[in-house]
Amino acid sequence: MSKRFYLTTAIDYVNGQPHLGHAYEKIVTDVIARAHRSLGEEVFFLTGLDEHGLKVQQAALAQGKDPQQYCDELADIWKQFAAKLELTNDNFVRTTSSGHKAVIQSILSKLHAAGHFYKSTYKGFYSTTAETFLTEKDRLPDGTFDVSYGKVIELEEDNYYFRLKEHQQWLIDYIESNPNFIAPSYRRNEVLGFLKNNTLEDLCISRPATRLNWGIPIPFDPAYVTYVWFDALSNYISIPSAHGDPTVCSALNTTATASPAPMELWPADIQIIGKDILKFHTVYWPIMLKAMGLPLPKQVLVHGWWQKDGQKMSKSTGNVVEPIAVIDEWGLDAFRYYVIRELAIGPDGNWTDAGFQSRYGSELANGVGNLLNRSLTMIKKYRNGIVPAGSNQLQAESTEARARVIADYQTNELQDALAHIGGLVTRANQYIDQTAPFKVAKDPQRAGELDQILYTLADVCRIVSVLLWPVMPGASEKIQQQLGFSAFTGRFSEADVPIAANQAIGEVFALFPRKDIPPTKNRAIIA
Ligand code: ME8
Ligand code: MG
Repeated sequence: MSKRFYLTTAIDYVNGQPHLGHAYEKIVTDVIARAHRSLGEEVFFLTGLDEHGLKVQQAALAQGKDPQQYCDELADIWKQFAAKLELTNDNFVRTTSSGHKAVIQSILSKLHAAGHFYKSTYKGFYSTTAETFLTEKDRLPDGTFDVSYGKVIELEEDNYYFRLKEHQQWLIDYIESNPNFIAPSYRRNEVLGFLKNNTLEDLCISRPATRLNWGIPIPFDPAYVTYVWFDALSNYISIPSAHGDPTVCSALNTTATASPAPMELWPADIQIIGKDILKFHTVYWPIMLKAMGLPLPKQVLVHGWWQKDGQKMSKSTGNVVEPIAVIDEWGLDAFRYYVIRELAIGPDGNWTDAGFQSRYGSELANGVGNLLNRSLTMIKKYRNGIVPAGSNQLQAESTEARARVIADYQTNELQDALAHIGGLVTRANQYIDQTAPFKVAKDPQRAGELDQILYTLADVCRIVSVLLWPVMPGASEKIQQQLGFSAFTGRFSEADVPIAANQAIGEVFALFPRKDIPPTKNRAIIA
């Protein structure tokens, strides 16, 4: 058994609506997962849902539904969303599953027995929206609490607390001596700044069942349920436990419940999250793992947030991007392409319909789509659909692009990978303009020259298709099909095998049909 490349996404709140931000994070993770499969590695990609907590309990109640039934209905929608994005996730975790609940209880029992928790009385403010306790430090200068906390109430109650203070120094040392643990580096600096300038408050890990019952019962005190973040973060190891991961199973004393063949997964290679949940993943989660005796993930990779037209997306103002509507109109490949090409992993992004349509037109329809179409149409017309013998006259450029793109995928520089593929496409389109095959074809004396040009184009299209696969698997497979290949594994090693002379190409069709933009939208672009 060898360790798989294990990567995870944040698990989405089941009661929310799948939106662009969720789609983006899952696509980024899927591209990295596919890239590692292309490199020939064994990969395990986990995504799923966060289903406990007061908001879910209240939303179910408001609809007159049992919370589990409510979650089950929504989970179907989220699973369909994952399928729509063609995610290659290997499991889909739900925190209300019995396997997950059992692992959480093992963790709690273990940490309690080791003395990490204590019971104490809390008196103060509580945000029901954020399900979190607030202190004087959380007050704004005018004495109120931020609107994001919603309704803030005063309460007094007993709870279990996780001792965090003793963990502060090793965590600082760990982050300092492992510079790749948190990426990008400005997020690492943010966490270090926080840890060095504040004393960690102990973390309240329980909620009284009288106030909140939609949660996992605390095994050593049934009057309480588990704090939803403690429950949610542990999904990253509850699934490895279900698959019999030896590291997790021996630390927690659990056994496999999922598949017959045990898999080695933990520690995760990359955990992908959005910037708003940085502290949970780089402070609480590492401390939880350390207390359990488990190694930390190799990297927490933090992406930025999307806006639309320079503003926060919000259902109430109608300022949202509907991923499903975009996919239905423009195709999944175009959607996946745009979000990866437009935004590197880290900074915030801004969706504009004009920007999307512009990249679709110039980079997909006129870029890769046009290159493929021109190349194959000429092979059909001048060589009866048979790839002529020749050598790739753009070999140097192709080899260089291949090396750069693969290096970009290995360092999660997905935007750069697409830029470098785009560079090769542009170069090949220029090559057509410069060599003017349609003129060469008119002179029978220049048949050898035409063969060279057509061979070069077929071979460049092949390389482009291999390199594009992680981002646009559908388009990549269509290019392969049009080039006459029957089986395509998506492996980068296929980029090294030149196309064979005499290969019969397949049916030629537009990869990214040009779309006429309706006049109203056109005006909006000019304005
Ligand atoms: O936070 N742009 O769930 P969630 C980019 N259940 N990413 C965005 C975004 C945007 N506009 N809006 C949200 C939760 N996200 C918890 C996670 S993990 C153990 C528990 C990202 O549904 C966000 O940053 O609110 C997060 O990574 C993910 O979507 C899920 O957000
Ligand atoms: Mg959120």
